[in-house]
Amino acid sequence: MCMYPVICNVVFEHTQLVIMEWMLWASGFSASSTAEDVTQGIDGTGLTSIVTGATSGIGFETTHVLASHGVHVVMAVRNTKSGKKVKEAIVNEIPTAKVDVMELDLSSLASVRKFAAEFISSSLPLNILIYNPIYAYGQSKPANILHAKELTKHFKESGVNITANALHPGSIAINLLRYHNIINGENPDPSKLVYLHHFTGFFVQNLALFLIQGAATTCYVSLHPQIKGVSGEYFMDNNIAQPNSYAMNAELAKELWDISLTMVAP
Ligand SMILES: NC(=O)c1ccc[n+]([C@@H]2O[C@H](COP(=O)([O-])OP(=O)(O)OC[C@H]3O[C@@H](n4cnc5c(N)ncnc54)[C@H](OP(=O)(O)O)[C@@H]3O)[C@@H](O)[C@H]2O)c1
Repeated sequence: MCMYPVICNVVFEHTQLVIMEWMLWASGFSASSTAEDVTQGIDGTGLTSIVTGATSGIGFETTHVLASHGVHVVMAVRNTKSGKKVKEAIVNEIPTAKVDVMELDLSSLASVRKFAAEFISSSLPLNILIYNPIYAYGQSKPANILHAKELTKHFKESGVNITANALHPGSIAINLLRYHNIINGENPDPSKLVYLHHFTGFFVQNLALFLIQGAATTCYVSLHPQIKGVSGEYFMDNNIAQPNSYAMNAELAKELWDISLTMVAP
């Protein structure tokens, strides 16, 4: 399974330097764009997406936005009780939303295999896989970028029309976690988040804003036609960004790939 695959067809014909300068302006979106801004007018009907960690935070808002654009979202969650509450809240707000809940604990390879088998047996297509929750920081974030780059290499070699990109939810999202924990405690009831827009008070309204901005880059990379054909890139604030040199090292990417294959071998 890949990390953030999207369907793509844009071809860049500039030198890398020009591309990076151009990209800062290319999308027309910025750090303050919301998930709704970056998906405005896009019809996702007919697409199926798996969103892991969909019960709270960025995963929740991503599910909400994709479903509101007609995407059939499979919420892959470790806590199915929370997942069902979130699904219910989304369907109450958007009666046409297609949302399913399936159990997946990413910390268990047995659970990942069980989920994959169940998903395959559902015969649903998989157009967009959003591999969202990753708690570890430090090396894990460049590892995501290295993985997207190596996966892109393998996709190209195999001639398959699949893309993989990595992203950072943006500087604004950092605030989200802080405020989210203050308001909701360590184990917030995720279904409450659906109703944030209806609450009054400056503080909570700003939390809702951080949430929809925090999910923007994920929704942009998942759905926006500008990303068609783009693969192996790193996104931040709804634009292609330049990761540090560590995350660009092709040898490291291959090493990580080989180690990962050994770790997940049955
Ligand atoms: N928020 C930020 O400021 C920020 C900034 C930079 C990067 N990021 C990155 O953006 C991504 C999303 O961040 P976030 O803050 O919204 O969420 P998060 O805290 O990383 O993830 C929360 C969601 O992940 C689920 N989850 C946790 N462990 C899981 C597991 N083992 N298996 C399946 N699901 C699991 C949680 O489910 P439960 O309901 O069961 O707990 C919850 O739905 C993460 O990769 C994070 O590192 C976030």
